[in-house]
Amino acid sequence: MIIISNNPKNKAHSYGDFLHCLSLRISNSSTISKVIYTQNNPSYSSVLNASIHNARFSTPTTPKPYAIITPRKTSHVQSTIYCSKNHGFQLRIRSGGHDVEGVSYVAQVPFVILDLVNFRDVKVDTKNEVAWVQSGATTGELYYGIASKTQTLGFPAGICHTIGIGGHLSGGGFGVLGRKYGLAVDHVIDAKLVDANGRVLRRKSMGEDLFWAIRGGGGNTFGVVLAWKVKLVPVPPVVTVFTVNKNLEQNATKIFHRWQYIAHKLPKDLFTTVWVMKVNSSQVGKKTVQASFRGMLLGGVDELIPLIQNEFPELGLAKENCTQMSWVQSILYFGGLPIQPVDILLNRHALPVSSVKEKTDFVREPMSETGIEGFMNMFLEEEADFAITMIEAFGGRMDEIRENELPYPHRAGILFESTYIVQWTNEADAGTYINWIRRLYSYMASYASKSPREAYYNYKDLDLGTNNIIGYTSYEQASVWGLKYFKNNFKRLVQIKTKVDPMNFFRNEQSIPPL
Ligand code: FDA
Repeated sequence: MIIISNNPKNKAHSYGDFLHCLSLRISNSSTISKVIYTQNNPSYSSVLNASIHNARFSTPTTPKPYAIITPRKTSHVQSTIYCSKNHGFQLRIRSGGHDVEGVSYVAQVPFVILDLVNFRDVKVDTKNEVAWVQSGATTGELYYGIASKTQTLGFPAGICHTIGIGGHLSGGGFGVLGRKYGLAVDHVIDAKLVDANGRVLRRKSMGEDLFWAIRGGGGNTFGVVLAWKVKLVPVPPVVTVFTVNKNLEQNATKIFHRWQYIAHKLPKDLFTTVWVMKVNSSQVGKKTVQASFRGMLLGGVDELIPLIQNEFPELGLAKENCTQMSWVQSILYFGGLPIQPVDILLNRHALPVSSVKEKTDFVREPMSETGIEGFMNMFLEEEADFAITMIEAFGGRMDEIRENELPYPHRAGILFESTYIVQWTNEADAGTYINWIRRLYSYMASYASKSPREAYYNYKDLDLGTNNIIGYTSYEQASVWGLKYFKNNFKRLVQIKTKVDPMNFFRNEQSIPPL
């Protein structure tokens, strides 16, 4: 076993020494060619770009890694930690590459990427209702692995099927089963981690503090999580999904206003979400704003219709808005993909890649009708042509879990979480679109949670504040963003980080700093 010294002898980066160090440790030359991609390697760009899901960080001026390491064994991960530590390279860990700010594959200092694309085994044990899933697998690969063995078990994680398990579970993981079962991390029961000293730890050997921290306290912070053991949850063989679109002329504002009072109180088996975006109006050449009310009931359509008619008649849900399907097909439905064949879940590149900036809010008090009107009207602006806000109802199981149970604190009392997304295609216009989303975020300040204004770590937003690129970051400086993501759990995360990685080897712009 490789144990890595805590006393890096040479902090000045030397690329040659780094490569030499790795090649000594990965001595088999046929393996080396499949594990180390230097900038001279003809496959370097395709390996780098394969998991970039934000084109904003894939331009000619974006800083590139000196090398990409795609480990095939745990010892390759240990060697990469050892060599980057001893030769002054920052390590960026990448699983699915969906980090919204690109921090898993971009850094402002000399760096290498540890890309877990070959760590993607999914082992489902239906008898014990558990699965071991490696970090480089996508949620889609996990969902597919479960569904190919049983129709009555599922896993409560994110909607998009191409996100990596490694990053997703490092920050929480909310999806359509969230009101029924909580977050993905609420169902993690063991993990395999390589720490800054190269030790391979499981739940028992890492201890409950570190095990608490890795379940949502941020990626690239406490170590490299190679795999997670998760508890699966029951799902019925048939679920019902629906979509009802209402635009401004069809009372979208009033219906959304009403939704805020109802959605978080509905039975846990029913999840609803509202997607707000600009669409063509029925008047030729005009635009309007649409609120698309979507949802899923863990049950049949005959149960769903009377439930909505009783609780939320304003929506006007009819049978033709609804479709019955399996839970795994519902993932594709919410992802905007055809629900057959389901093996598209194994396609890591099924979704288009554009330039994106995202921000999040948690809302605890219903917005006024005038407030909603102003929010909707912002989508009529030119910069909002490819913008969307995804508003997800909370309540249910999320209300029952204590704020300090895990690092993710946004639980009881949250009515809904909003993810604001703006996209563009021409990089020269990035500033215009980013300004728009910043204005939208400023507008929402009066309606969002306060002191702190809470934000979801999985949709990283470097506007909230960052660590110093080089050197020490004080607790006070990091608290500016840390309290927004983690509330009072931030302090405990800092204490754990100080204990397990005092030299701050695992770091990025928003990783927890040691004291
Ligand atoms: P990536 O590989 O970029 O890693 C993200 C962060 O985790 C980086 O800091 C990285 O270094 C670190 N990291 C990655 N693997 C690690 C490992 N094995 N060990 C330690 N650190 C590691 N969220 C949600 O809750 N619900 C949802 O429905 C969605 N939907 C969604 C759709 C789309 C299109 C995007 C772009 C994002 C989402 N998300 C989401 C947010 C998503 O959960 C978040 O971006 C995750 O961090 C993505 O994980 P990846 O492994 O893909 O990212």
